[in-house]
Amino acid sequence: HLGSIPTARLNADAAGIAEAARLVGAGGVVAFPTETVYGLGADATDPVSVAKIFAAKERPRFNPLISHLPDLAAVRREGVLNAAAERLAEAFWPGPLTLVVPASSDGSVCDFARAGLQSVALRVPDHPIAREILSRANRPIAAPSANRSGRVSPTTAEHVLADLDGRIAAILDGGTTRVGLESTVVACFDGRVRLLRPGGVTREDLARVLGAAPDEADNSERPVGPGLLASHYAPRAAIRLNATRIEPGEAALLFGPADASGVSEARAHFNLSPSGDLVEAAARLFAGLHRLDASGASVIAVAPVPGSGLGEAINDRLRRAAAPR
Ligand code: TXA
Ligand code: MG
Repeated sequence: HLGSIPTARLNADAAGIAEAARLVGAGGVVAFPTETVYGLGADATDPVSVAKIFAAKERPRFNPLISHLPDLAAVRREGVLNAAAERLAEAFWPGPLTLVVPASSDGSVCDFARAGLQSVALRVPDHPIAREILSRANRPIAAPSANRSGRVSPTTAEHVLADLDGRIAAILDGGTTRVGLESTVVACFDGRVRLLRPGGVTREDLARVLGAAPDEADNSERPVGPGLLASHYAPRAAIRLNATRIEPGEAALLFGPADASGVSEARAHFNLSPSGDLVEAAARLFAGLHRLDASGASVIAVAPVPGSGLGEAINDRLRRAAAPR
């Protein structure tokens, strides 16, 4: 049962990767690194395997999973890509983009992984370990972020173990992930391109390739993005946004060269990027939240972060972390 599975620690070498692929083939759940965050992978074609992901994460069953594939040829067997989807795939794969497209009539991703929707979320990750596991597994691997539902996403193997040790068959330790934020989720069907979740590919990047800004996801169209719950990415501490002054005893999440006033009396502080670089800030966001939460502070005060480029996804995660639970 939950908490009673011995979780194997696998090294990121040939033997570890082969074992991870074998475990997935045998119906197990394995955490592995991608360029965005660690994923919790299982055979996307097998409902029993997929059920184990939902159980380990305590994830609501209505929230569909992303299926990961090694290349575009494999993607085309699972989903129907229109012209916009083809352009985005060409421009950003492998990379931090997920396309939600109509599921192929002969696709292999099971209903459970798609939460019963007609669409399927597909991604080709840009990480050598992930890609090696995917090509060895020879089937789509469903992989949400490797954290318990609602919690902060993991960018190191230690983050994964803190949430899931004893709940999963294995973790493959590939060090710190590069992008640090989840993939950008874009829906391409019904003649529209909708940005469902900001992420590692920016809105500006999408607009450049599409020649026009993507459409906004409309909340009245749920369940287009059923997993986009208001409260998510939540540390134990409460989050206070747009803090320009840190109160004594608070933990401080900072950005840029100018320190917020009161930092010297903070319980702990972490600067996402002292030089004000949003790429660096994205890569360090979840590690910063994990670190400050571990300080035991009851409030994490967050300095303002600019909203352009990757700042959109950073602010999206911070808003959800701060949302009422
Ligand atoms: O970077 C990432 O995307 C990571 C790594 C491991 O690849 N994965 C990840 O998965 O973030 P997860 O499950 O935490 O987020 C998947 C998001 C959810 O918001 C879910 O609702 C949405 O994608 N999604 C999946 N299938 C969908 C569908 N058919 N229609 C709309 N949204 C969908
Ligand atoms: Mg997640």
